[in-house]
Order: sequence, then C-alpha cells, then structure tokens
Amino acid sequence: MVCGSKKKSYLKSQNLKIFGQGKVNGIVEISGAKNSALVLLVATLLTNERIILENVPRLTDIEKMENILKNLGVNLVDKNNKLEIDSKNISFKELPYELVNGLRASFFCIGALLSKFGEATVPLPGGCKIGSRPIDEHINGLKALGAEIIIEEGIVKAKIKGKKNKLHGTNIKLKCPSVGATETLIMAASLAEGRTIIENAAREPEVQDLCHMLNKMGAKIYNSGKQNIIIDGVNKLGGCTHKVIPDRIEAGTFLIAAAATSSTIRISPVIPNHLKAVINKLQESGSEITIKDNSITIKGKEIKGVDINTAPFPGFPTDLQAPFTALMTIANGESKITETIFENRMNHIHLLNKMGANIKLNKNVAHIKGVKTIKGMNLVGSDLRSSAALIIAGIIAKGISRVYGLEHLDRGYENFESKLKTLGIEITRELSIENLSEKEYKINPELEEIRHIKAA
Ligand code: UD1
Repeated sequence: MVCGSKKKSYLKSQNLKIFGQGKVNGIVEISGAKNSALVLLVATLLTNERIILENVPRLTDIEKMENILKNLGVNLVDKNNKLEIDSKNISFKELPYELVNGLRASFFCIGALLSKFGEATVPLPGGCKIGSRPIDEHINGLKALGAEIIIEEGIVKAKIKGKKNKLHGTNIKLKCPSVGATETLIMAASLAEGRTIIENAAREPEVQDLCHMLNKMGAKIYNSGKQNIIIDGVNKLGGCTHKVIPDRIEAGTFLIAAAATSSTIRISPVIPNHLKAVINKLQESGSEITIKDNSITIKGKEIKGVDINTAPFPGFPTDLQAPFTALMTIANGESKITETIFENRMNHIHLLNKMGANIKLNKNVAHIKGVKTIKGMNLVGSDLRSSAALIIAGIIAKGISRVYGLEHLDRGYENFESKLKTLGIEITRELSIENLSEKEYKINPELEEIRHIKAA
C-alpha cells in the first residue's frame, strides 16, 4: 500500500493564531461524542427501518462516515446536528479505499455488513503502516462467530460459513479490551443465532451508548459497561430515535484548559461519571471542582505536578493524555505521564520542549519538571489529541503561537476555536501565508511514520 508523501507542505493550509497567556471564563456547551456518533452511524446499517440520531457533532470524521454510508446506498438527511438515516436500500459493496482511508472507525462496518449480507469486504483501516494498531481482536472474534476471513493486499474479505448465512453465538475472550473490537463484535452478534458472551470487553461510555441504541432497536444486550457483555441474537432490528452522549474527551479538554490558565468555567451537558478519573487528577493537581447534575464547574488554582497512567475506562483516557501533559509543563514540581494504551502517542512532547518545557521522554513515559512559563511559536499538530494539547500550550504560552495541521483538530473537536473565543481566548483561524520548513515541525524521526496513523 502506498503512503502519502512524507514531506508535507503546509503552505496555504489553515492555522490557528493564538495570543498566549489567555484566561477562559464562562460556560461551554459540550457537543455529542465523536466516538459514539461514529459507531452509532455504523449500527444504522443493521436495520431497514429509519433511525434518527440527535446531537451528532459536525466533524470531518463524521462526514467521512456519512460518505461511506451514502456509498453503500444509505439515504441520509442531515439537519444540522440531527440525522435521519434510512438503510433499507443498501446493497453489498466493497468499501472503497479512498473513503475509508484515514478513518479507523470505518473498519467497524465489517461486523454490521457481515451480519446483514453474509459477507463484507473492507480495506484495512488507517491506510498506511498500521502495525501498531492491529485488528486481530476484530478478526479473531468474527471468526469465532463463524466468519471465514482472508486478508489480501490490504483488503479484509469476510464471509459467513455455511448455508444459513447467519453468524452463531459463542464465547469470545478479548486479549485486550479493545473499544473497536468490542463494538464490531457486539454489532455482529446482535443478529447472530444464539448467545454471545464477550469477555474482557471494553467498558467505555461509547460502547455503552452503542448497546443502549441497539437495545432500543430491539437487540438483547446485557451487562454493557461491565467486563462480560452478553448478547442474545435476534432476527431483526428496528428503527429508533437516539441522542448521542456528550463528548467526555471534549469536556476533559476544556477542563484541562481551565486548569492550565487558572480560570473558572462551567461545562455542560456532561455525564460526570464518564469523567471521574479526569476529575480526580485535576483535583489532585489543585483545581476546585463542583459537580451539579449534568454540569461541572472548575476553578483552576495553583497547578501541582501529578502522575498519570492512561488505562481503559474507567481509567484515565489515553485521548486526554496529550492535553494533560500540556497542563503539567507549567506545574509546580514534577510529574510522570505513562501512556499504556498506544505505543506511540507522544508526538507532542518534542514541540512542548521546543516551547521551553522540560520533559524527558523515555519510550512511553514522560518525566516532566514543571517550568514557570513556556513561549509561543509555530507548531504542527500531528494527530487529533496532540493538536488539542498544542492549542492549550499556545494559550498558556507567552507570545503568539500558530498551530498548523488543523485537519487533525477538525476531525474531532466541533467549533473548537469559536468555543475558546467565547470563553475569552484571542484565537483566529487564518490562511497560512508562510511555508513552514520541515525542521520547524518535524517530530522525532523514529515516530515519523506514526504521523499517518489517526490515533482517535
Ligand atoms: C478507540 C477510540 C480512540 C481511543 C481508543 C482507546 C474510536 C473511533 N476511537 O479506538 O479515540 O483512543 O479507543 O480508548 O472509538 N488492539 C489490538 N488488537 C485489536 C484492536 C486493538 O491489539 O484488534 C490494541 C491497540 O493496538 C491498542 C489497544 O488495543 O493498543 C486499544 O485500541 P482500541 O481500544 O481498539 O482503540 P480503537 O477502537 O481503535
């Protein structure tokens, strides 16, 4: 498979110009969760009846998923954050590489398509070197459910064995609680014959949201949010109306931005239980937090260095590791950030150090000695969450920063800069007029390939 050119030109692309040392103040409305909306869109393939999805964030990742569904023949009416989805006329088709390239969640279609058509042909996700984000758990689980799978030239071809054209329920034990694999297998098992038990399943709120919607559609899924999920297959799924849960990662990003600027904001709507690990760490690092119904108020104070280890839910989310690292650059004292979920999710460290942070990176462990200030500069986000981290760093920093690589940010944060503007940050999207030299943005050379892997 051919990867895109390594040498990227940022000329004429957009960037965010941020005047540093800002404060945030006010109320932020949290959007629907990207990772929920993506998989809920896939789940609509399982029924011939109409699904209404509310609170869908407007993001480029969502647009990509919509295009994949449209390509399969789904009729999709888009009314701002509400989608009316009708999958009754879909037909079996290979998902085209151009549409799935770069959207890992596109691979999650395989389970739904397989149970609907008895076969599915889906390119490997991510497009390029994806060695560090395998799909073995998806594949092994689908095989256990009765699929025959071959992978040829980057294309995964799955077919149900036997004449009945039905997957059959079984016990599946995941080696790691993969979010995507749990979701793929839940969708496949919903229309299988008999009972499936997924052991060591992911417990993330987005998995629970999927189960909630499938149950509204007539599925029989028990124990979502627990380690062993039970699915009794049904013959058919119907339509429903479902509201996507609030985005806990967006919520956490704003909480961290407030802590980093010693400011006070209120975020809502949120489901506070989804943010427990993040709230605990923010409190430990000195912020005052008040939870009231579906809102959280944070009063940022002195920032103390704290250690974090990312972990599957309910642990500290890997998707907030980069923003939290930006916060720790200006903490009093030392902190140790350990990334345990993904092999290479430390792309932001090199740039934070260029801004004046004092971070020593040893594989997946960042040892941070807090500094008083960092300075603004030109920065290029290389994945979704590191882009958010760099924006927070730009807000903290002395002077002006320009953050490039917004194609990553736009995948996962709805109206990020306008929300920050409303909170009082001087931030503007501008057309880049200069061509950044590669030296300015280049990340650790060993990690260069990883830039192509969309981490969230
Ligand atoms: C989802 C989220 C992403 C989040 C991640 C972990 C979506 C669209 N994205 O990604 O934002 O960072 O969960 O919370 O929902 N693994 C295997 N074999 C597999 C699958 C995964 O070994 O078949 C490993 C991965 O390499 C990784 C770990 O499991 O080390 C977690 O990955 P997974 O939970 O699958 O992440 P995604 O579902 O891709």
